[in-house]
Amino acid sequence: MNKLTQDVIQSFSGIENPRHHYLMTALVQKLHEYVQEVQLSPEEWEIAIRFLTATGQKCHEQRQEYILLSDVLGVSMLVDEINHQQHENQTPSTVFGPFFIPDMPVREYGAAIFKTLEPDQLPLLITGRVVDQDLQPIEYAKIEIWQTAENGMYSGQDSQQEIDNLRGIFFSQVQGEYAIQSLLPVSYQIPSDGPVGDLLNFSKRHFWRPAHIHFMITAPHYHDLVTHLFIQNDEYLNSDTVFGVKDGLIVNYGRCEPSAKIEQKFNISSAYYQIEYQFVLVRE
Ligand SMILES: [Fe+2]
Repeated sequence: MNKLTQDVIQSFSGIENPRHHYLMTALVQKLHEYVQEVQLSPEEWEIAIRFLTATGQKCHEQRQEYILLSDVLGVSMLVDEINHQQHENQTPSTVFGPFFIPDMPVREYGAAIFKTLEPDQLPLLITGRVVDQDLQPIEYAKIEIWQTAENGMYSGQDSQQEIDNLRGIFFSQVQGEYAIQSLLPVSYQIPSDGPVGDLLNFSKRHFWRPAHIHFMITAPHYHDLVTHLFIQNDEYLNSDTVFGVKDGLIVNYGRCEPSAKIEQKFNISSAYYQIEYQFVLVRE
């Protein structure tokens, strides 16, 4: 090993926690190897510093450019792969993404997360159960949901939307049932106005993510589940710019005609779309 690399690694010998020590020294070693391997020039080093500076400067309360960078580099999915080894029938996990906002309103079983419904729009009823790996119901699982509006933007990105539009927290019922009224999601482009956008343009990569709805489901004594549901036949399922698609997360929706039962239960008087999905959590 290069003397300089050895000295830098040695300089971190004061880190007491063995895991922290390993993380830091392995980082130095790999970083030095990379710089050696590519024979980095001062100009290239400066571009990298400027890129990382711009990435940090683009971040604020509702914008996380570093998560976006991790996503387009596939690092988010690699961390997911390492840490969520699949139990046989567990719901697959996927990227968290940069658009989650905590502490959104708690909503009743079957409530709508949209603020308005255009005359030509049909609501999307998402129903199913939250169960454990033996398919036993999990009561009072916390279901956090977020998705873009029709214009492909999340609240928080878009000054036209109230902050809790298309977001909310639901709790599963006695038999694990949940019901949420939303809208059909659309495929959307990740933000292109920052350094991650520059990187994708430079690389001639597209910005699209296939239509999806985000879920984070948590319950005491179960592993957290961070995932999406993707819509079948979306044209970007095979080229998601953040590499987040997994087969078990692709769902189809059907169109249902109005019925007295649905009107009484969910106050939906029109035709509606429906997705049924069972989320499977794994015990700790
Ligand atoms: Fe998303």
